[in-house]
Amino acid sequence: MPQDKILVLDFGSQYTQLIARRVRENKVYSEIFPFNASNLRIKNFSPKGIILSGGPSSVYDRRAPLPDPCIFELGIPIMGICYGMQLIAQCLGGKVEKAQKREYGKSELVIDDREDIFKGIPVKTIVWMSHGDKIECCPPGFNKIAHTENSHIAAMADRSKRIYALQFHPEVVHTVEGTEILKNFLFKICKCKPVWTMKSFIENATKEIREKVGNRKVVCGISGGVDSTVTAVLVHKSIGEQLTCIFVDNGVLRTGEAKKVEETLRKHFHMNISFVNASERFLKKLTGVIDPERKRKIIGNEFIKVFEEKAKKIKRAGFLAQGTLYPDVIESVPFKGPSATIKSHHNVGGLLKRMKLKLIEPLRELFKDEVRVLGKELNIPEEIINRHPFPGPGLAIRVIGEVTKQRCNILRKADAIVLEEIKKAGLYKNLWQSFAVLLPVKSVGVMGDERTYENVIALRAVKSLDGMTADWAKLPYNVLEAISNRIINEVKGVNRVVYDISSKPPSTIEWE
Ligand code: XMP
Repeated sequence: MPQDKILVLDFGSQYTQLIARRVRENKVYSEIFPFNASNLRIKNFSPKGIILSGGPSSVYDRRAPLPDPCIFELGIPIMGICYGMQLIAQCLGGKVEKAQKREYGKSELVIDDREDIFKGIPVKTIVWMSHGDKIECCPPGFNKIAHTENSHIAAMADRSKRIYALQFHPEVVHTVEGTEILKNFLFKICKCKPVWTMKSFIENATKEIREKVGNRKVVCGISGGVDSTVTAVLVHKSIGEQLTCIFVDNGVLRTGEAKKVEETLRKHFHMNISFVNASERFLKKLTGVIDPERKRKIIGNEFIKVFEEKAKKIKRAGFLAQGTLYPDVIESVPFKGPSATIKSHHNVGGLLKRMKLKLIEPLRELFKDEVRVLGKELNIPEEIINRHPFPGPGLAIRVIGEVTKQRCNILRKADAIVLEEIKKAGLYKNLWQSFAVLLPVKSVGVMGDERTYENVIALRAVKSLDGMTADWAKLPYNVLEAISNRIINEVKGVNRVVYDISSKPPSTIEWE
């Protein structure tokens, strides 16, 4: 079934991804293009509606980002949000001015016209504002449809052209009727059908994978994390035996990791999995290395080598499946600052070339929370779906200083205790990550009558939405106490446990 699509043009707002996700939550597929996407590209995408995001610029700046003016001539409904509204005003002959007072936070919106976009919305409703410019005068053909105390034109519309503009942010939860307003745009104005579900996604994706792969073979590296597991299960559902997964034990995994992966994927889904124990190889390369970035490089490069050696043995391999997600592929808008994505640690470019493999990235249209829903739909156990992120370089960046087998073993034991106690206390799901870090510091202790001089473990537990910012978790004292007691009693070589109470920024989640 052809699906209806909404295009979000990105003018640099911190909420752009949120707009796309809100649209998808309403079962309508949406994609984000940079603000200057060409006429041709937009037409080829053939959206049922276009949303112009907000952004940090001012429309009267000399270098203000502008869309291809053709968008106003396509006859497709448009909704401009914040900067998007000011753009509409500016491009179509209205007047935008610097507001005397910047409006930020909650405001009471008074609706003057409760037709189409505001259908069913109370006359007065709370909305979220964040703007320094305001519309002084609507462009010809537009009417004011709502106002606030500070903005006498807080929403405007040209109903005949189906162009709507909102000064506030309907995508933010603080806008009480935001979802209803968005729904009115999607279903009443753009006439979209709510048919984009994970079920329909699976149907389309499996069909596409089958067509693309034909009778060739696919290799997929799995780590036990959500993205690679969901990728593998989806590809397996499409082509079954033609898929071989490769799991590399790099010597810096957590306790029982390989076994868990085996149980899930081999026993539950009956997949072909090739396990490679390359621990010694990795640890040898890491000998004497202290610099975190060098550790990352060594592990990334060695992974590619080991993976390639194994993949070469798979006859007629034509494709490499990878769990790339949508935030990794959205083209970032230049003035947005540092890209908001967490890059994957494996650079597979060279591997693809050398082995003449093509990439399959079946999750490249999905956000992380959508991948979790997809995983559920594919019957992947909760335990994997809700797993905390685990970095590619593994424990190597949590053993601060030199990584040795013995130090990894100490950390592994401490880490297992942290996870056990966090799960036992029912806190796992509320945390973004929780783990132990082994410090390159020794401290004095006393055990029985003896003086000890042993290692220090730091605990790290954070709350976060996307890993970009994080708060240290206020773990209950009794949980901290249980973790500390158990680590000191059960892990030989540790006599002190400390709790990391730094947030990101300015600290990072990992210590290296
Ligand atoms: P930081 O330490 O930068 O971490 O606050 C943010 C998130 O990224 C994870 N992380 C990594 N993941 N390879 C990965 O695959 C890496 O080299 C890497 N470094 C950090 C970290 O666990 C957290 O979730």
